[in-house]
Amino acid sequence: MDVLGHQPKKSRGVLATLDFNDEDLNSALCEATAVTKEYFDSVNEWRVFPLIQGKRLRHAIRERLPLEPTPPGKVIQKFRQTILENARHNLHPRFFGYVSSSGNPVGAIADLLTSTLNQNVTAWRSAPSAVEIELLAIDWIKEILGYPREAIGMFTSGGSLATLQALAIAREVKAGKNVSRNGMQILGRSRLILYMSEQGHMSIPKAAALLGLGKSSVRTVRADQAFRMELSDLERQIAQDRSRGHRPFCVVASAGTVNTGAIDDLEGISRIGRREGLWFHVDGAYGGFAALVPSICDRFRGIEKADSVSLDPHKWLYQPLDAGCILVRNRRQAYRTFSGSGEYAKVIAGIPGEDFAFFEHGIELSRRFRALKIWMAFKCYGARLLAACIEKNLRMAHVLETLVKANEYLEILAPVELSIVCFRYVPISVQKAYFCARPAQKQELDHRLNRLNEAIMTQLQREGRVYLSNAVLKGRFALRGCILSYRTEERDLRILIDEAVRIGRMWERKV
Ligand SMILES: Cc1ncc(COP(=O)(O)O)c(C=O)c1O
Repeated sequence: MDVLGHQPKKSRGVLATLDFNDEDLNSALCEATAVTKEYFDSVNEWRVFPLIQGKRLRHAIRERLPLEPTPPGKVIQKFRQTILENARHNLHPRFFGYVSSSGNPVGAIADLLTSTLNQNVTAWRSAPSAVEIELLAIDWIKEILGYPREAIGMFTSGGSLATLQALAIAREVKAGKNVSRNGMQILGRSRLILYMSEQGHMSIPKAAALLGLGKSSVRTVRADQAFRMELSDLERQIAQDRSRGHRPFCVVASAGTVNTGAIDDLEGISRIGRREGLWFHVDGAYGGFAALVPSICDRFRGIEKADSVSLDPHKWLYQPLDAGCILVRNRRQAYRTFSGSGEYAKVIAGIPGEDFAFFEHGIELSRRFRALKIWMAFKCYGARLLAACIEKNLRMAHVLETLVKANEYLEILAPVELSIVCFRYVPISVQKAYFCARPAQKQELDHRLNRLNEAIMTQLQREGRVYLSNAVLKGRFALRGCILSYRTEERDLRILIDEAVRIGRMWERKV
């Protein structure tokens, strides 16, 4: 019996190798590329979200650990029938669910090449060409944002890891007592306080928790009617914390909030941060790459002053997952936080450039060659075309806003700043009641509308023609349409409106 409880078969004299013979390799590659091509050709015609229920899907996927080989063609067919058909399709022109990248054909090709080359982009000596490509791609991103050339940056698994990394550096620099060596207890009773808008992303308190700051050290600053951080409330809270003996150390601004796409006043926050001696981090995970678009790049003014920035090429640069990115203004501060390798990993190279190691400037040691797809996208498409796709998404968001405003059943719930449109269905009878209701009655009506719109969203998702998600804005449940697929056209938005209203009319009598 072997460790798996099976009777070992007699040796068939098969060589222990993972290589295929020429014919098998060729045919597996051809089948994989055929599926890839079919996907890019036909996904627009598919349901956005699969019909299958969880239990049946699990049943279709579950099987015992395979001990013997299956021909790759058969495995690819299984992928085609079970995995691909039961996926949610982020590339679909009517996927409006989250701020998710659509992906793109160059990214798919690049990912194959990335795994073929299998570089560990941890240090120059382990992946010389890949390190140089990553440094170049990061330079291009700095150029897009007008960020200082001498800054350091790297690709990460996502915006959350970028923010965690940035806040670790902020903590190290601002705590002043080498907390990465001594631990947070060295600070005694004084508390490091971080500020973010009430519209800020959940990855920020999560990072605060992981860094030992505690979620209760994160102050949520009020957002104004446009869902931007209220600077007067930021200043008030900083003063209050100081008067209580706490140590304000960091402010996180949003360059595109996840709920509505609001861009905070980056210049203003940077000014307050400088005056108060705070680390200034900008979360540009969703919105940052819109700085590529000349007509709105001014809205990002101030980002170049940030001590650190998080970005997500796997959102609005159309890159397949995963590809986050961090930029840090002062590379010595990143080094101070993350260096300190074990003897076995120590970089021994006398030649400048060849002694560079990403692992001494960030969390990850082993790192995938994420930069290849980003480099290839800039090379194959050019920055102008990528900017044009983002600009089209921005235009489509304004088309959707216009369609919502023109529809008697729909109400816009937030200004449209980037490519997110938040709205809700309001039955005509409720509109009339709302108009003359007192605040308490309005609250009650909002409650009812919340339930109604929740039901609309769930049914929209299940029916699979369009996919929307939600946000809760000042207590109101919003249908949130995020436009990040370069394939979305006006007809897709008209379908979204028609479907939302059709389902709304169906549900308004039931809820
Ligand atoms: C504004 C913002 N920040 C951070 C994140 C986290 O990014 P990731 O999902 O890549 O970790 C998101 C994700 O939606 C986001 O929208």
